[in-house]
Amino acid sequence: MESKKASESLVIMTELVLPNDTNLFGNLMGGRLMYWMDIAAALAAQKHCNAPAVTASVDNISFENPIKLGNVVHIEAKLTRSFNSSMEIHMRVWGEDLIQQFRYKSNEAYYTFVALDPNRKPRLVPQLIPETDEEKKLFDGALRRRQLRLILGGKMKPDDALELKALFIKD
Ligand SMILES: CC(C)(COP(=O)(O)OP(=O)(O)OC[C@H]1O[C@@H](n2cnc3c(N)ncnc32)[C@H](O)[C@@H]1OP(=O)(O)O)[C@@H](O)C(=O)NCCC(=O)NCCS
Repeated sequence: MESKKASESLVIMTELVLPNDTNLFGNLMGGRLMYWMDIAAALAAQKHCNAPAVTASVDNISFENPIKLGNVVHIEAKLTRSFNSSMEIHMRVWGEDLIQQFRYKSNEAYYTFVALDPNRKPRLVPQLIPETDEEKKLFDGALRRRQLRLILGGKMKPDDALELKALFIKD
């Protein structure tokens, strides 16, 4: 299976916050944003593996700044690394006020998607080639983030998370 560049998975999604997307304070609801992020991540994953892929997990999301009614939402999604059947997608979210002409960061998150075969079983995906310094940094960190989320999901024993342990235990 041929490896693919991280940049090939890039997805940029733009949405407008309408009244039906907001909470009682006139800000974008977190659930609506996570829904859009899920779609952006799914598109990035499927651009990479050219197969159906499902959300396996979502890492913690902190909402740094609310996005206001009438503002624009920009979601940038790109693969950081692929493993066997799973892919980690990094997302950055900004709000933009087109009238006042400023952009502000809303949040960042990592989603994990798993590619499925026609029998809905996990299937192998192409390996990822990071090119820029930032892509290489995200690629390296992906192994530790994977170990942490698999431990939290009860799918890995802490003792097996060698790269994660190395962060805390120095010789
Ligand atoms: C995600 C899913 C396909 C994993 O299936 P599984 O039978 O547990 O498969 P495995 O244990 O063999 O793991 C397959 C891959 O999923 C990854 N995975 C499993 N659970 C995970 C989790 N909680 N977080 C991140 N990755 C996970 C494994 O690390 C593995 O990755 P790898 O192949 O790259 O090594 C399965 O749990 C599923 O279908 N979940 C529902 C997905 C869904 O419907 N999402 C929409 C939201 S409702």
